[in-house]
Amino acid sequence: MKRYIALLSTFLLSTSAVTAEEMTDHRQLVEMPPQMQQMFLKNMRGHMEALDQIIAALAENDLNAAADIAETTVGSAQGKKRQCDENKPSQHKQTEHKKKAFGQFIPPAMKAMGRQLHISANEFAVVARQGDMGEAYKSLSQISSMCVACHQSFQVKSK
Ligand code: HEC
Repeated sequence: MKRYIALLSTFLLSTSAVTAEEMTDHRQLVEMPPQMQQMFLKNMRGHMEALDQIIAALAENDLNAAADIAETTVGSAQGKKRQCDENKPSQHKQTEHKKKAFGQFIPPAMKAMGRQLHISANEFAVVARQGDMGEAYKSLSQISSMCVACHQSFQVKSK
């Protein structure tokens, strides 16, 4: 309880000391239709879940499982279609409606960060399978750094 109160007071103190600079949001605004935004954020929550599962697998000392999870979720396992990459009509039959995916609303700089995230996840899988836990953690932090970098640069808004 004491600890909780200490935490709470730290929180209250820190929020009351927010400066104007801290309130300013320098992230680039990326606009997309509400449905696309929903899809995008759902995809993001999936990333969070994947990260959680990777950490859990590492905690179990299961480097191969961690590699598999990274590859099939955040990575670009073979044949996996990525919504963020889609910016042209799908290659399905002409008669089919153009498949809508949020990729078409994402600016190039953000897409590049997304691609780097997928590359980092693939690299993590390779490193993890080599069996060195320390190296695996280092490589995992390359993934989480990409999450941080993009979140510091962009925000989404429905239009
Ligand atoms: C290419 C850019 C990019 C990368 C890389 C990225 N995100 Fe995001 N993510 C965003 C943006 C933009 C938002 C929306 C933020 C906003 O509008 O305030 C977001 C939102 C989220 C949210 C909130 C979802 C919700 O329902 O509101 C979570 C959770 C999240 N990201 C997790 C992750 C994790 C974990 C990673 C790394 C494995 C990651 N993201 C990598 C761009 C990215």
